[in-house]
Amino acid sequence: MQSWFPFIPESASTISGDVDAVYFYVSGVTVFFVTLISLVIIFFVIRYRRRNAFEIPRPIEGSHKLETLWSVIPLVIAMSIFVWGAKVYFAQYRPPQNALEVYVVGKQWMWKFQHPTGQREINELHVPVGRKVKLIMTTEDVIHDVFIPAFRIKMDVVPGKYTSEWFEATKPGRYHFFCAEYCGMNHSGMRGYVEVMEPKDFDNWLSGNANQMSPAAAGQAMFESLGCVSCHGANAEGGRGPALVGVYGSNVVLSNGPAVKADEGYLRESIINPQAKIVTGFGPIMPSFQGQLTEEQLLGLVAYIKSLSTPKPETTTAKPPATGTPQSANPVRQQ
Ligand code: CUA
Repeated sequence: MQSWFPFIPESASTISGDVDAVYFYVSGVTVFFVTLISLVIIFFVIRYRRRNAFEIPRPIEGSHKLETLWSVIPLVIAMSIFVWGAKVYFAQYRPPQNALEVYVVGKQWMWKFQHPTGQREINELHVPVGRKVKLIMTTEDVIHDVFIPAFRIKMDVVPGKYTSEWFEATKPGRYHFFCAEYCGMNHSGMRGYVEVMEPKDFDNWLSGNANQMSPAAAGQAMFESLGCVSCHGANAEGGRGPALVGVYGSNVVLSNGPAVKADEGYLRESIINPQAKIVTGFGPIMPSFQGQLTEEQLLGLVAYIKSLSTPKPETTTAKPPATGTPQSANPVRQQ
């Protein structure tokens, strides 16, 4: 399905075709039944109209055959929409491994992006074609929403937590993105462009903007200046807090029983509200950093803690660690 169809934006990601197919299927089923039922109504109105004032219609008994038919057919149609839709939904919302991770902070009324190698952008995002990109998103104020029509993705950006969405662009170009959640006076102006580039051009763009500190490096500096290291030394020096090497991505056992997966959201919460989930064997002694850090500083700290668990630091040189080369026309799909 391409943009030849009116009102359909350009199709430029690996999932946009699947989303369009479901959309056209649902639309097709709707149009078909609206037409069918309208025609039948018109036909019946004419065919079975009252012909004189004293006419009494013949009584009609129910029909099990008919009732079964008009229950089973809609059930099959509804389930086909559900199953197909769920399949596309899971493909779209399950974040891929080895994605290029870009941090996004929304703010009335602008979008701030930061690449893992430090490059910052406002209302513009440069990405390589043929490479999975995961946006890890939060906001400094109210709810916003990142909507990239050409990629068929849309996700709320919510205060106090991280949400994410991902895409793999299939052709170079410039694609509009919007804020899709009403957020105040300049909501309609809170938009920009995703610039999809050939990997070579993207590398050039990156190296041309390479004088900024990476989020992980900024986070490490913050970690040291806040004195976190006195409790969370790399090898549990200090010993008052859990060691942070290897924490990200692991299952952390809590003092009140259950284990939780240490993802970005867990790390963020443990900085802002350390009492919420206490690791077993440690006391509730960590002070809260609520209100002391901006969302970008928090993202830096999270990126730093993640880097302690990632064997190789992430790069944005368009060379994914394990999957096929991004230059190939059909990169290996992850799922
Ligand atoms: Cu931000 Cu609407």
